[in-house]
Amino acid sequence: MPFTLPELPYAYDALGPYMSKETLEFHHDKHHQAYVTNGNNLLKGTEFEDKPLEEVVKGSFGKNAGLFNNAGQHYNHIHFWKWMKPNGGGKPSGTIEKALTDSFGSFDKFKEDFIAAGTTQFGSGWAWLAVKNGKIEVSKTPNGENPLVHGATPILGVDVWEHSYYIDYRNRRPDYLKAFVENLVNWDYVEELYTHAAK
Ligand SMILES: [Fe+2]
Repeated sequence: MPFTLPELPYAYDALGPYMSKETLEFHHDKHHQAYVTNGNNLLKGTEFEDKPLEEVVKGSFGKNAGLFNNAGQHYNHIHFWKWMKPNGGGKPSGTIEKALTDSFGSFDKFKEDFIAAGTTQFGSGWAWLAVKNGKIEVSKTPNGENPLVHGATPILGVDVWEHSYYIDYRNRRPDYLKAFVENLVNWDYVEELYTHAAK
């Protein structure tokens, strides 16, 4: 089934001042659109043409680099838009708060590890919180790769490609990551994915 660009779940100016309208216009309308367009071109005539997106991502990894890069980035960005919301961020509540405290010792330690993963990802990529074998862990991946191809289920991810922060933060990637955790994360969506993945 062909890839389609989802609408942003909020207005383009809704995440300011932490992520600007200009960033979202470029990131969603140009970059994500390009992954959709290129992905659809590369899907044609392959064994993955009628497969769900997650299967395209997992099946093309290590086999069809062009398709994988675009399918991976399509999957990552579909979730990335939903991992943010206006007036988001801060400390979560519910089962995800308990899971973070159980796994990292405290919410602050999770925050430190997550920001460190994003800061130390050399070049383009992502930092993640994912569920693997019933446990939650922080990781980082290059380019379009994600925890799905490492046997884990991503429940939170932050895009550290320069296109995600350079307009608003220039080279200050750590400041962008801090703002993401403190002001943008949609913990309700993380909780939903965690509940589903932990079953
Ligand atoms: Fe991106």
